[in-house]
Amino acid sequence: MFYVPVIIGSIRRGRKSPLAARFIVERLKGSGKFEPDLIDLAEYDLPIMEERQRYRDDSPPAVVEMGAKLARADAIVVVSPEYNGGYPGVLKNALDYFLPEYKRKPIGIVTVSEGDFGGISAMAQLRLIFLHMGAYPVAHRMSVSRVQDAFDDNDKAKDPLLDKAAKAFTAELLWLTEALTAKKLAEA
Ligand SMILES: Cc1cc2nc3c(=O)[nH]c(=O)nc-3n(C[C@H](O)[C@H](O)[C@H](O)COP(=O)(O)O)c2cc1C
Repeated sequence: MFYVPVIIGSIRRGRKSPLAARFIVERLKGSGKFEPDLIDLAEYDLPIMEERQRYRDDSPPAVVEMGAKLARADAIVVVSPEYNGGYPGVLKNALDYFLPEYKRKPIGIVTVSEGDFGGISAMAQLRLIFLHMGAYPVAHRMSVSRVQDAFDDNDKAKDPLLDKAAKAFTAELLWLTEALTAKKLAEA
């Protein structure tokens, strides 16, 4: 099983991103290949980053815990809303604590919005920053429009197209995770 932390990148009061996060967690579990682990930034409550974790010996326990999970990860999934044409500051703050933890890891990006565009600007930016940090965003896009109405009470997608997107997203994440893991094992 591939261990995959799923970061919820919104802590807003009344936030909707957890709906998409729960949905994708179920899809990852359903693949039978991934062991997803939710990292809810609302629970981690990380302080504003004064220095990167690797240069500190007094990191808050939440930072140490999150860093350990990211270091152990075979792949990482980020679920992010779009705020003002980008992704939330709270997510950038959390991501900036770490760097080696992302190296050569596949990154699945899920974006959400209340409107029709599914957070595609946030998606584009997250792809770029993960590439910058030496990780590999999966090519398949998973963006959830009208997130507030997208799921039923059992975390199922109401629109079959969203199911289709999740299937392709999960398959692509798995492909890349298997390929990179095999390469890392060969080099170990
Ligand atoms: C500060 C703020 C800025 C937003 N800016 C955008 C935006 O630029 N584009 C967009 O599609 N939606 C925008 N929205 C709507 C959010 O995508 C929508 O509220 C979504 O549910 C946010 O995710 P959350 O509920 O998990 O916080 C904005 C929402 C907030 C709170």
